[in-house]
Amino acid sequence: MKSKKQIKNICCIGAGYVGGPTMAIIAQKSPEINVTVVDINAKRIAAWNDPDVEKIPIYEPGLSEVVAEARGRNLFFSTDVDAAIDAADMIFISVNTPTKTYGMGKGMAADLKYIELCARQIARVAKNDKIIVEKSTLPVRTAEALKRILDNTGNGVNFQILSNPEFLAEGTAVTDLHKPDRVLIGGDLDTEAGREAIQALVDVYGHWVSDDNILTTNVWSSELSKLTANAFLAQRVSSINAMSELCEVTEADVQEVAKAIGMDSRIGPKFLKASVGFGGSCFQKDILNLVYIAKSFGLNEVADYWEQVILMNDHQKRRFAAKIVKTLFNTVSGKKIALLGWAFKKDTNDTRESAAIYVADYLLNEQAEIVVYDPKVTQEQILADLDYLGTRSEVENRAQVSVVNTPETACAEAHAVAVMTEWDAFKTLDWEAIYEGMLKPAFLFDGRRLLDKEALTAIGFDFYAIGS
Ligand code: UDX
Ligand code: UDX
Repeated sequence: MKSKKQIKNICCIGAGYVGGPTMAIIAQKSPEINVTVVDINAKRIAAWNDPDVEKIPIYEPGLSEVVAEARGRNLFFSTDVDAAIDAADMIFISVNTPTKTYGMGKGMAADLKYIELCARQIARVAKNDKIIVEKSTLPVRTAEALKRILDNTGNGVNFQILSNPEFLAEGTAVTDLHKPDRVLIGGDLDTEAGREAIQALVDVYGHWVSDDNILTTNVWSSELSKLTANAFLAQRVSSINAMSELCEVTEADVQEVAKAIGMDSRIGPKFLKASVGFGGSCFQKDILNLVYIAKSFGLNEVADYWEQVILMNDHQKRRFAAKIVKTLFNTVSGKKIALLGWAFKKDTNDTRESAAIYVADYLLNEQAEIVVYDPKVTQEQILADLDYLGTRSEVENRAQVSVVNTPETACAEAHAVAVMTEWDAFKTLDWEAIYEGMLKPAFLFDGRRLLDKEALTAIGFDFYAIGS
C-alpha cells in the first residue's frame, strides 16, 4: 500500500553521527525527496558543505562517496533551522540526548532539553501539518511529552509523532543503512492519521528496504526496543569481558571460549569479542537510562540487574590500566606509555566514552607520560576528552600528554605500548622496528585482542592480551 501522503521535503535537526549518515542515504536512495540537514553548530555545517568531500566532519567508510553523489542535488546542509522546518512535510529529530550532569537523575537520566527546544521551535514555526520522527534514542514515553508541547504551543496544525530508532553502528554506518536487519517504526496504530504517517515513513524506506524488513509497532514498544537492543548487546560484551578476567587466572583463553560458545546457534558468534571495555555514545547512556526508568517505577531488581553491565565495564577499563602499572614493576611515574588508538572502535573518529580516555586518565594519575597516536582523531579532540573529565588542569594534561602523527613516533623510547582501538593498520606495523626503538624490557598490552601473541613474543615483547 502506498501512502496518500507523499513526502517531498524532509528536514533533519542534528547533523551528527546519526543524522548526517542517515539523511545522506535517504537522499541518495530517494532522488525525488529534498533532504535538508540543519544544525545549530555552524562549524559542523560548514564542514558538511566543504567543497573537498573528504573534509566532512564525520569519518565513516563510504560516506564521502554518498555525500558527493547527493549533495547539492537533493541533499543540503544548513544552519537555517526555521526555514527547513517550514518547508518540511517530515522532520527527523536527531539531536543528542546526553546523560544529565545536574539535578534530578544526574548521571543516569537522559537530558531532554535539546529535544524540548526542538519541539518548541517546530511548534512555533510550523504552518502546515507535519510528521515528526524521533530518531534520537529517547526514554520510553518521550513521544507523549513531545506531543503535548507541539499541540499546546503550536499554530493549530496537526502533528503525528513517530519513533524510528537508529540501529546503525559507527564505522559501518553506510552498510548498516543500505542493508538494515530491520527498520523499526513506532506510531499511533489506532487512528487513521497515525497509520497514514507510519505508511509515509515506510514509503521513504521502501525506496531501498523491502517490506519484510520494516517492522511497525506502537510508539512505546519502538522506544523501548532501542534501549533493549543496546542493553542486550552491551550485556554480551560485559559477559565475555567478565570471562576474560577468569581466563587470565586460569589456563583458558577467552578467544577460544568465545569461539566455542559462539558456535552454539542459540548464542551466535557476534559481540563476543573481549576488549578493554565498550565505549561509544550509546551503550552506557542507554543502559543508565533503562536503569533510571526501572528505578522510577520502583523496579529495583530490574535496575540493579542492568546496572551491573556498566559496573563490569568500568571494572574492565580499570583492571586493564591497573595491569599495566602492576606489570611495569608497580610504578609508571615518569615512564612513557604509548597508546595506539583513541577512538572507541575502529573506522570512526568518534571518541565518546572511549575506553582509551579512562585508561589514560588512570595512568596519568599514576604520573605516567602518555603519547597517543590515532589515525583519525585530532590532538584537539584527545585533549578535550581529558579536560572534560576534570581530573586535572588543562596545563597538567598538556604537560603529561602528547599526540603524534605516526605509531612509530609514539612508541619510540616508550616503556610500554597499549593497543586501545582495533584499527586494522596496527596489525601490519613493523613491530620488529618498533621493538628496537623501545626501552627494554619492552611491554605490549593488547586491549583488543588484535595482535599475534606468538609473533610478538618471538620478537621479544613482554606481551599481555585481554583474556589470555
Ligand atoms: C544523537 C544521540 O546522541 C543519540 O542518542 C541518538 O540516537 C542520535 O542522535 P549523534 O548523532 O551521534 O547521536 O549525536 P551528535 O553527533 O552529538 O549530533 C547531534 C547534533 O545535534 C550536534 O551536531 C548538535 O550541534 C545538534 N543539535 C543539538 C542541534 O542542532 N540543536 C540542538 O538543539 C541540539
Ligand atoms: C551501538 C549499536 O550497535 C547500534 O545498533 C546503536 O544504534 C548504537 O550503539 P556503536 O556504539 O556505534 O553502536 O558501536 P558498536 O559496534 O555497537 O560497539 C560499541 C562498543 O562495544 C565499542 O567500543 C566496541 O569496541 C565494543 N565491542 C563491541 C566490544 O568490545 N566487543 C564486541 O564484541 C563488540
